[in-house]
Amino acid sequence: MRLVKPFFGGNWKMNHGPRAARRFVEEFTALFPPSQDRTVVFFPPAVSLAEFRTAAAGREDLLVGLQDVYWEPSGAFTGSISAPLAKDAGATFVIAGHSERRHVFGDSDEDVVRKVAAISAAGLTPVLCVGELLEERDRGEVESVVTRQVEIGLSQLQAEEAERIVVAYEPVWAIGTGRTASAEDANEVHELIRGMLVERVGSAAARAIPIIYGGSVKTSNIEELLAAPEIDGVLVGGASLSPKDFAQICRTVWR
Ligand code: 13P
Repeated sequence: MRLVKPFFGGNWKMNHGPRAARRFVEEFTALFPPSQDRTVVFFPPAVSLAEFRTAAAGREDLLVGLQDVYWEPSGAFTGSISAPLAKDAGATFVIAGHSERRHVFGDSDEDVVRKVAAISAAGLTPVLCVGELLEERDRGEVESVVTRQVEIGLSQLQAEEAERIVVAYEPVWAIGTGRTASAEDANEVHELIRGMLVERVGSAAARAIPIIYGGSVKTSNIEELLAAPEIDGVLVGGASLSPKDFAQICRTVWR
């Protein structure tokens, strides 16, 4: 399945329990009519997924995913959720390698690749997050860090699996800080990622893969970001917690 661009992801992180999720859906659906010309995916906390889906019944255009999974399919792994369990709960996407997983919880590149492979094997779409730390940017290492993360992240996927992913470029210094990468800077990194995807899956398939930007996306900068030729969508944290702001972001006219 090819994803319709632009792609809008709302990563709620550790916010909005089931009751808040229901209220959110009621408000959001009133502000955002069903739309076939874009992809909108919510990543609520796992405990809110069922309530989200119940509240959004009849809105097949609003997709859901989980923020993380463990790579084993089942077993004695207290506290963890697997990709098959996520699928059973109605998720169609799972984020892998979010910077908070990498830097707060210590997920290594090797952990991320196992997760990407497990998500894909379960028939779900991995959203592979990559992005450099501020000190890496200052040392001029953006290209090498992002290249390494993308290369490793995709290394266990078959060609046809690698065609069915989303790549999110989220510079760590722009997440939750109010500092957004300029559309120009982000576009440059997206171009680099696109080039790697072209080598991996060929030009036509690589063009179809959404490469999205995340890091302090707001109603005030969404238009500029989406105007950049290689930015196919966004992964929104803080601003996705407000139905009003996120509906406005999701309604942005696509170039
Ligand atoms: P903010 O939009 O809050 O900066 O978070 C971005 C992010 O991490 C999305 O996954």
